[in-house]
Amino acid sequence: MSDAIESILHEDRQFAPPAEFTANALISSEEHYQEMWQQAKDDPTTFWGDLATSELDWFQPFDSVMEGDMPETKWFQGGKINASYQCLDRHLTTWRKNKAAIVWEGEPGDTRTLTYQELHREVCKFANVLKQLGVETGDRVTLYMPMVPELTIAMLACARIGATHSIIFGGFSAEAIADRNNDAQAKVVVTADGGWRRGKEVPLKTNVDNSMEKSKSVQKVVVLRRTGGDVEMVPDRDYWWHDLMENASAECEAEQLDSEHPLFILYTSGSTGKPKGVLHTTAGYMLGAQMTSRWVFDYKDEDTYWCTADIGWITGHSYIVYGPLANGVTSVMYEGAPNWPDEGRFWELVEKHRVNIFYTAPTAIRAFIKWGDEWPQKYDLSSLRLLGTVGEPINPEAWMWYRKVIGGDRCPIVDTWWQTETGGIMLSPLPGVTATKPGSCTTPLPGVVPAIVTEDGEELDANQGGLLVMTQPWPHMLRTLYGDHDRFIETYFAKFNGKMYFAGDGARKDEDGFYWIMGRVDDVINVSGHRLSTMEVESALVSHELVAEAAVVGFPHELKGEGICCFVIPKGDIPADEAKETLRQHVRTQIGAIATPDQIRFTPALPKTRSGKIMRRLLRDIAAGRESTQDTTTLEDQSILEKLREG
Ligand code: PRX
Repeated sequence: MSDAIESILHEDRQFAPPAEFTANALISSEEHYQEMWQQAKDDPTTFWGDLATSELDWFQPFDSVMEGDMPETKWFQGGKINASYQCLDRHLTTWRKNKAAIVWEGEPGDTRTLTYQELHREVCKFANVLKQLGVETGDRVTLYMPMVPELTIAMLACARIGATHSIIFGGFSAEAIADRNNDAQAKVVVTADGGWRRGKEVPLKTNVDNSMEKSKSVQKVVVLRRTGGDVEMVPDRDYWWHDLMENASAECEAEQLDSEHPLFILYTSGSTGKPKGVLHTTAGYMLGAQMTSRWVFDYKDEDTYWCTADIGWITGHSYIVYGPLANGVTSVMYEGAPNWPDEGRFWELVEKHRVNIFYTAPTAIRAFIKWGDEWPQKYDLSSLRLLGTVGEPINPEAWMWYRKVIGGDRCPIVDTWWQTETGGIMLSPLPGVTATKPGSCTTPLPGVVPAIVTEDGEELDANQGGLLVMTQPWPHMLRTLYGDHDRFIETYFAKFNGKMYFAGDGARKDEDGFYWIMGRVDDVINVSGHRLSTMEVESALVSHELVAEAAVVGFPHELKGEGICCFVIPKGDIPADEAKETLRQHVRTQIGAIATPDQIRFTPALPKTRSGKIMRRLLRDIAAGRESTQDTTTLEDQSILEKLREG
């Protein structure tokens, strides 16, 4: 099949869940999973309808479960609901009212715990503050804040009154804030004086100030005092959070909203042009966040759960805020960097809060590996019972390290594949059921019907790499790109005549029906007519003892079409040139001659976005020796490009 992406990664190890885990799991047998999955596929109306009735609190029941074909499917029409009610109020009539909702730790070491009842009170007060500032149902509110409880409070306050929040990650620049404010036509911005990151103050308010000239729709700015740094307050525009909250009433009924009422916009980068405002709506998104987090993380009421993501990304939306709170879980939230004041910070937090479920990203795991086993080994990690990863393919060797060093060979790992657009986890092991294979996100959750297809939409056989698509709608799917419905259709549905959702990732399904993500399709390289996934070459490199992290890109090659260029971060100092040949041979023996690297370049660091994704487009330019015309505003460390060019 000429369209197929050749898969060169061979992985035979498999790990069944421990019997004790299975015995206590919510979904504990393959038959149970199969039965749920089949029902959701064959009769989604009954499957999702029953769950929506039993799991969501409705002010008014819905008339229909789903109406219309993908991509225009509408869910739970006629129903009235509120996401903040779903996360808070309904717990207040149960014993959970005094349970910790958020256990928060600031980077400097300050801590706060908010119970469900306390969180509810703060949310009601801030909802009244927003109303007082003129925010109405349907308005957009930008949140540009550090990882502090007030961010969660502001999100739920927006949800409570039916304002649509748009969170901008605290690492973005004034320019990015202005673009997003304008695109969403935001009325109010909520920010802080600053936030802490590796002991330094991130000047959030100054960035907002610098965006205001170009943010014409914004009328008011609310400023939380976090760092105590100097800020300028513009009269009649800027207000201190604490001043507004002082006299705000703690009574605020949750607005009764339509199921399809817009809950939030979250901007995500596209391959070209301006960022895409992914829009999620209320009932479907909430059902997805609530059910997927319960299935995948198998929450117990006594669990302490920690997702290390920033709330500025979708992972934080769905798996720090909406999913865990809707389930009445205790969720840890940490403000700062994993290596501040030292590389043991995360493990210190796990020990201190007796964390049971830990969810992080492969990029973090690779950093932990580089920093050395001595850091986790200093702390008692025996409370952990389940580990998760998300965000990019995890190399099998990193997976094995995570399992052994962090999980003590006892914790199942859930490698969760999903996207900003999907709203919630799509492919993932069920921790009490699935026998995991390192590097595979395994099987689809109930309600998810994926396929691997060619460019023409033809389904491929087992182990043939192709394009990952979804063939049925699901409740927590994005509804549109804000203000640009044509782009929504074009990006995700036009490729297959509107019939399938195209995720933009390459993947293969193995003989056991397990999915292996091969990265974004634009990360696929073509070597002598063979389409290879850069991620698989990276995995081979990372399996060598010299290598801490690797990024592989294609570059124009006279003979092969594309050659393979590997940027490699070594474990110790930059090794002598002989090491390059060692690594070339290693990749060759690991995956075959076709994948032999043409170039190995050692580097102390890689260009990454602030969410930790390697910016391969920049590396492609460097490998090809071209000047870069790419947007580098989301790059974490601007100086790295110069260093790489010199190298
Ligand atoms: O390429 C896939 C990768 O991240 C993309 C989605 O990025 P974003 O919308 O920022 O959301 C990240 C957090 C959900 C996907 O298209 N990706 C995400 N999770 C995985 C993954 N690739 C492989 N394995 C995963 N578990």
